[in-house]
Order: sequence, then C-alpha cells, then structure tokens
Amino acid sequence: MIITVDGPAAAGKGTLSRVLAEKYGLAYFDTGMVYRAVGLEMALLGKNLNDEAEALKIADSLTFSKMNELSANPDFRSALGGKNASIVSAYPSVRASLLKMQQDFSKHPVFADGTPAKGAIYDGRDTGTVVCPQADIKFFVTASPEVRAERRFKEFQAKGEKISYEEVLADVKARDARDMNRAVAPMKPAADAVILDTSNDTIEDVLRRAVEIIESRKQK
Ligand code: C5P
Repeated sequence: MIITVDGPAAAGKGTLSRVLAEKYGLAYFDTGMVYRAVGLEMALLGKNLNDEAEALKIADSLTFSKMNELSANPDFRSALGGKNASIVSAYPSVRASLLKMQQDFSKHPVFADGTPAKGAIYDGRDTGTVVCPQADIKFFVTASPEVRAERRFKEFQAKGEKISYEEVLADVKARDARDMNRAVAPMKPAADAVILDTSNDTIEDVLRRAVEIIESRKQK
C-alpha cells in the first residue's frame, strides 16, 4: 500500500504520516528532507542559493546516508533550513534529479533500520501528483496560514530558536507562495486526493477521519 500526504508547511502532515505509518506498518518517507539536505549542503559549502547549477551538483550526488547525516545538523529543521529548502526546491533541474530517489523508495520501501516494509507513506508537496501518482490513497492536509504559523512558532520556541510569531507567519506565507507558484510540480491537491483541513480539528479527529477513509478503501 502506498499513501501520500501532501500539503503546506505545519499543516500536520508529519504527525499524521508518522501515526499512520506505525498503525499500518508502512515505511515513512519525509520528502522535504531531500530539499532540506540540498539547501543545507549549499549553505555549509558557502554556495549561493541562487545558483541552480551548484544546487543540481549537490542533488545529483545526494544519497539516503548523506541526507540522514545532514539531518543531525540543528540547521536542518530550523526556520532558515526550511527557507533554503524551499528556494532550491523551486529549481526544475533539482526536482528532476531528486525524483528517481523518491520514486525508487516506493518500489523497495524500507524502515529506518533497513528492513523491508510492505508499503510506504510519503509526506511532501507533490507526492500524490508527481512522485507517486499511482498511490492507493492520497491525502492533502491543510490549515489556515495563521494556525500553521502558531504551531511552527511554538515548535521553534520549544527549541529555543529566536524568532517572532510575525516572522514565522511571513515565512509560512512566503513558502506557500513559492511552493504554489513554481513552474514544476507546484503544490496542489491531486484530483483524487481527500482534503483534510486541520484548522479547527485536533490531531485525533484528523487521524480518525484518515483511518476511516483508509479502511473504507481497503474494503473495496
Ligand atoms: O516539508 P518541509 O517543510 O520539510 O519541506 C521543506 C521545503 O521543501 C518545502 O517548503 C518545499 O518548498 C519543499 N518540498 C517540495 N516538495 C516536497 C517536499 C518539500 O517542494 N515533496
């Protein structure tokens, strides 16, 4: 079984995906990591983020082990890390380069320890539209920019990152605009995606709805 969970930053995709992966014994692929890895490596090597050719070189040589190594860096999940990821992810050549790595995972999904899984859950922006258009079930998780900014702000505060709510909100809106307006693989729900709006619902409500949908599809 392949499930895709797309949607904007801080909509609740990660939480939903991890819980569903655990419940159904699926391997979890957080596809934002491939773009965060390229963005961070650019910054660590002192490259200009506006240089698509340099970003492509890094994307071409990216492996799962390199990505996991970079994910230990505190800047991988920082506000700056998210912004840099969103800049490099807009380059068509970078997206094309990273597509195979993401698609191959659906053919041989594995858990973090390398053991094979019977399916995968993808979390991203274009996983239902471009990476896995053949997925069995597709969700598009969304929430208002203000609600998402509030959630991200609290996460950053808990980590001690010095950033104001207004800055987080501006960043959420800028990332939405970049993700929705880029030429290649813009963020949008797949035609056959189920939309889950998490603005006013608890994670338990959203999870219950997602499980109902998965169970009803499995019976067909
Ligand atoms: O989900 P996350 O915040 O880690 O993603 C970081 C950035 O990577 C996003 O803002 C988006 O620009 C990009 N991304 C993408 N396609 C995906 C996943 C993430 O363009 N499938």
